[in-house]
Amino acid sequence: MAVIQKIRDFFSHERAEDQKSQETNFLGGEYEIKPATVDFLDEIHRANQICFKRGESYSRKIFQYLLSSPKVLGYCAFTCDSKIVAFIFATLEDDGTGHISTIGVLPEHRKRGLARSLILHVEKMLVKKGVITVRLEVRVSNLPAQNLYEKLGYRTVQRLPNYYNDGEDGFLMVKSLV
Ligand SMILES: CC(C)(COP(=O)(O)OP(=O)(O)OC[C@H]1O[C@@H](n2cnc3c(N)ncnc32)[C@H](O)[C@@H]1OP(=O)(O)O)[C@@H](O)C(=O)NCCC(=O)NCCS
Repeated sequence: MAVIQKIRDFFSHERAEDQKSQETNFLGGEYEIKPATVDFLDEIHRANQICFKRGESYSRKIFQYLLSSPKVLGYCAFTCDSKIVAFIFATLEDDGTGHISTIGVLPEHRKRGLARSLILHVEKMLVKKGVITVRLEVRVSNLPAQNLYEKLGYRTVQRLPNYYNDGEDGFLMVKSLV
């Protein structure tokens, strides 16, 4: 157990150092993208609840995991007065692929290119980790998100029957980063 803890500590330290070294991405002066950290747990959780309907949003516990796992890259878009208006989390899977697990932009900040910028940012960071393929799932009814992903080069490779808790199908979308 102690060995596992040491490995976790090692990777947590590596993640912290890694995140510190990642440059902030300024978006036209109005927003900036910075790594998501545990300090922002409540704010990210709240933003997620606003972006996703009840039953679709992640629990606080899931965000606690995402924010502490060395295998997860998380970023938020902040306003110039330091409010979080968008977030993205991607996991480094054991098979070497990247998996975008959630992305959301607060309604009043949509259609300004924030989701696009967050995805491009996380893809850049995944490439630095050696990832060459990224996947994600999206509801068949979520046309805005499908448009976004298609525009960024993601392609639907499979329909996933009953993928979501309410029985809705999903699409599996994949992008090659090379
Ligand atoms: C989907 C979502 C993340 C898009 O965020 P956004 O910051 O508004 O997206 P962007 O401004 O970066 O848009 C980039 C592209 O996405 C597509 N897009 C975004 N919103 C769209 C909409 N309402 N209708 C159709 N296409 C849309 C467009 O192709 C757009 O390109 P364009 O501006 O050249 O037309 C946002 O609507 C959201 O948070 N939705 C709720 C949560 C969600 O569904 N997350 C995805 C789960 S898989």
